[in-house]
This record gives sequence, C-alpha cells and structure tokens, in this order.
Amino acid sequence: MFTSRTFKINKICEYLLNAKVKRCYPKHILSNRSVHDVIDVDINGVKLIFPNVWLRDNCQCEQCFHVTAKSRIIDYNNFNVDTKPVKVTKNSNSLQVTWDDGHKSKYGFNWLKLRSFSPKYQKKYNDDIYRSPKIVWHGKDFYEICKKHDYKDIVSSDEALHKWLNDTSVYGVSVIEKTPNSETAIDEIVKTVGFTKRTHYGEKFVVQNVTNTSNVAYLSSSLQIHTDLPYYEYCPGVNMLHFLVQTKGEGGENILSDGHYTAKYIKDNFPEDFKLLTNVQVEWSDVGEEAGNKFYKLYRAPIIEIDSNDEINRINFSIPQRGSHFPGSIEDVVPWYKALKLFFNLNKKFAAKFKTPEGNILVFDNIRLLHGRNKYEDSENNVRKLIGAYIDWDEIYSRLRCVKVKLNLID
Ligand code: OGA
Ligand code: ZN
Ligand code: ZN
Repeated sequence: MFTSRTFKINKICEYLLNAKVKRCYPKHILSNRSVHDVIDVDINGVKLIFPNVWLRDNCQCEQCFHVTAKSRIIDYNNFNVDTKPVKVTKNSNSLQVTWDDGHKSKYGFNWLKLRSFSPKYQKKYNDDIYRSPKIVWHGKDFYEICKKHDYKDIVSSDEALHKWLNDTSVYGVSVIEKTPNSETAIDEIVKTVGFTKRTHYGEKFVVQNVTNTSNVAYLSSSLQIHTDLPYYEYCPGVNMLHFLVQTKGEGGENILSDGHYTAKYIKDNFPEDFKLLTNVQVEWSDVGEEAGNKFYKLYRAPIIEIDSNDEINRINFSIPQRGSHFPGSIEDVVPWYKALKLFFNLNKKFAAKFKTPEGNILVFDNIRLLHGRNKYEDSENNVRKLIGAYIDWDEIYSRLRCVKVKLNLID
C-alpha cells in the first residue's frame, strides 16, 4: 500500500517507463540521491511518489503553514533537507507522517493528487490551474477561433467572464460586442479583471488622427504589424481596443497574426533564421513626450523570446519602435535583417484582415499576436476613434483562477 522505503533504481525506471513519460520527468529523479528519499503512496489504486523533502517543506500544520495567509511559515534556519520519515500511516482520505525530528504532518489525498509529480497530474494542474494550453492559428481560420462575447454578459455573469478570459488566453484574441457607445465603457470591462496597466500613454489611450503626434499610431496612415510597447521590460500583456467610431470610408481594417504560428513555421522550415530571431538582441525604444511628461524607454530583447523549455515567452516586433542602435555583433547584421524580413513577410501572409465594427472591443494578446491597421482617410466628417486600455496577464490569469474557484471548476 504505502511504504517509506529505499527505491531501487531499476524499480523507479520501471515506474517511469510504465508511465511512458520518462522524458517528462526531471533527470534528477533518476539520480541516486533522490531515489532514496521518497515516500510512495497508493491512493485508490493510483501509485504516486513524493520526495521526503517536498512533503516536509509542504507540511500543512499550523506551525508550518499559515491558514489565512495561505503561505508557508516554516523556519528555514532549522529546515533539514535530508529529513527522513520514521513512521508513515494512512487512513481513508489522508497520509500521516512522523519525521525523524518528531514533527508530525498530515496530507489529504486530494491535496496530494493535485500536487503529484506524475506527468498525468502535472499536466492536469498545468492545464486546469496554471494556464490553459494555447491553440495556435492561421489567419484563414480566424472566424472560427475568434470567439464573440457580449458586453453585458461579461460585466454581469461569472460564467461569461470565465469564458471570455479563457478564450482570450487560449487563442490570444477575442471580441466583445454590443459595447455602449461611451468613452468609459471599457472601464467596466477592466473592472471585471482588476485594473489597467498604466504606461506613459496613460491609464487609457485614444487612437485617432493627431497632427504633431507623439506616436505613429495616432495618424491615419497605415500602421504596420507590430506589438505595442516592446520597449517596456514589463510590457502590457493584453491590448483592448474599443471601436467607438469606425471610418465610413475605405481602409482602417485591422490585420492580426498569431506570432506563435509564425514562430513555429520558421523553426520548422528556416531553423537558422529562427536562431537569429531568438538569439539576436534588439533595442526597442520610445523617446518623446506625452501629456507634458518626457520619456526615454529602452529595452533589449530578441524578436522571439523563448524560455528554458523552448516555449515562447514573448514576441517583440515594431518597425517604428526599434531603435537604430544595434546591440549585437556586426556579423549578425545582414543575416538578422533577412530573418526579420522573413518574420515580417510570413506574419503578413498568415494574418487575418477585417474591419472591426463600431461597438466592438477587439481584445488580443500583445506579447503573442502582431497587429496592424490599414490607412484610411481622415476628414472632418469621416473620423475614426478608438479607446484603448492594457491589462497584464498576471491580472487576467489571477482573475481567471479566482472565477474558476467561484464556479467550483477548481479547488
Ligand atoms: C495602436 C494600434 C490599431 C488601430 O494604436 O497601437 O495598433 O486599429 N491601433 O488603429
Ligand atoms: Zn508542520
Ligand atoms: Zn498597436
């Protein structure tokens, strides 16, 4: 049933192979040290293993864990990473462990399962609680993947809020329809999540034709595909554009492409270009003045930022907001420009193009999608006016998890 025991190395290998998941386990679990330091538990026929040190670190007793702060309060001055269990017992719904220093811990089975190291439960936790897996798309499928949501529903129903936030996180884009025709309507949507990301363009910003502008977006000329504010280290996660007035004339269409789709395409078909796009640092920049405040923002990062698991963290792209200082080596310049042009061309090729109707809020992942706008004619009786606001992914994922708890979708 359960034992505190020394796992034989071949037993562990067998366990991992049986689970057909050897690749997914961290390498160190096969090392000599960790295999001596686990407790295995059989929960209703499901065999799970937990390292001693992890169990001790996550003791849920009042001395080790503060209930209302929901935080670990173990005194690490006395924490022993080599702690061993001296007694392990189990009843119908929990595991009890007495440690070699006499401390006693108790763990509920559901609590343990959710935190299990087995790849199946790790995936469940990742998908249900951490972040829903993203679905990448080509522009030709835009009308299927871009889900429509109703303004009133989002501000009044947790189910609708959950659906909107989840769709936005999965596809990186969504639309809110039937938004009241007012400059403050977007505030109610922001409130459902929490608060905006404030930037030097303000809490909210107005996109319309402005002469002597502080930003090329505030013109009526074409706005080439880009991500907003790549020159911020803490770049806004989600962009929301409320189309208060759409141009009656030609032009003004939006262009949207999934940077993750393009990145994967380049990785598969042009690996050398992918290396340049992920390795060569670019200096993103915005220098100027807005509402009397001067700014001089610089941030260095490649066009495609990837993490240690080869997952894309963030896409940065802007022609106007890329500075002229090239931080990389001179040998990289020519091949890098070719890779940049490939990324630009493919995003345009894979993009969806549509004219966003008045009353819609176009919501998109600003660190995944590239967006742009076709030029339009601006005149006294033909204007175009958008109200924009940013929200960070931290706030969106947080609200999404809170709503899931409220709706009993997760514990
Ligand atoms: C922007 C922008 C899109 C539009 O202001 O950065 O991308 O449709 N605007 O005007
Ligand atoms: Zn404890
Ligand atoms: Zn933009």
